[in-house]
Amino acid sequence: MSQNTDDVNSGRPLPVSICVICGLAFAVLALLSACGGGNGAPANNVPVGPKPDFGAAIIFAAAPTDDDVAELAQKGRDVMGKYNCISCHSLGDKREALNGPPLGKVGARYRTRHKDDLQAASIALFNHVRDPEAYPGFFHGDPAYSGQKMPAYPQITDPELRLLVHFLLSKE
Ligand code: HEC
Repeated sequence: MSQNTDDVNSGRPLPVSICVICGLAFAVLALLSACGGGNGAPANNVPVGPKPDFGAAIIFAAAPTDDDVAELAQKGRDVMGKYNCISCHSLGDKREALNGPPLGKVGARYRTRHKDDLQAASIALFNHVRDPEAYPGFFHGDPAYSGQKMPAYPQITDPELRLLVHFLLSKE
C-alpha cells in the first residue's frame, strides 16, 4: 500500500488520515483482545473502524413523543424478555447481583445526557443495543460492570428494537 507522504511531511497539524489510521489500529487491537478471552468465535461480526450506521436516524426520523413511549413500552418490555436482556439487567433500581447496570432509570439517564432531545436519546439507545462497543453506555469501562460484556445484538429486528427503545425511554 502506498504511503500518504504528502500529508505526513506537510508540517500541518495532525492530518486526518493519521487519526483514521490510529482509530483503525485501536479498533483492531480492541477486537483482538475481546476475542482473546472468549471461545475464538468472531465478536458478532461487529464492523471494525468508523462507527457503524444502523439506520437509527431513519427509524427515528420523527422523535418519539411521551405518548408513544407510554403506548409502546409494554411491547418493548416483551422484546427485553424475548432476547433475555434481563439475564444481565434488573429493571428496577437495584442491581440484584446481575452483570449489567440496573435499568430502572436508564430512560432518565439518556434523556439527561441528550438534553431532553428524545430523538437523539432514541438513536443513542438504538445504536447502543446494536453495538455496545461502538456506542458505549454510561457505565462503559466501569470496573463494577466489567464481569461480563454486553454482547452486540444484530439479530433483533429494526421494529423490535424500535419498541425496545420506547421501553428503555419509559424507565425514568
Ligand atoms: C451478558 C450481560 C448483558 C446482556 C445479556 C445485556 N447487557 Fe446491557 N449491559 C451490560 C453491561 C455490562 C453494561 C454496562 C457496560 C456497557 O455499557 O458496555 C450494559 C449496559 C446497557 C445499557 C446502558 C445502560 C446505561 O444506563 O448507560 C443498556 C441500555 C443496556 N445494556 C440494554 C440492554 C438490552 C436492551 C439488552 C438485551 C437486548 C442487554 N442490555 C443485554 C451487560 C449485558
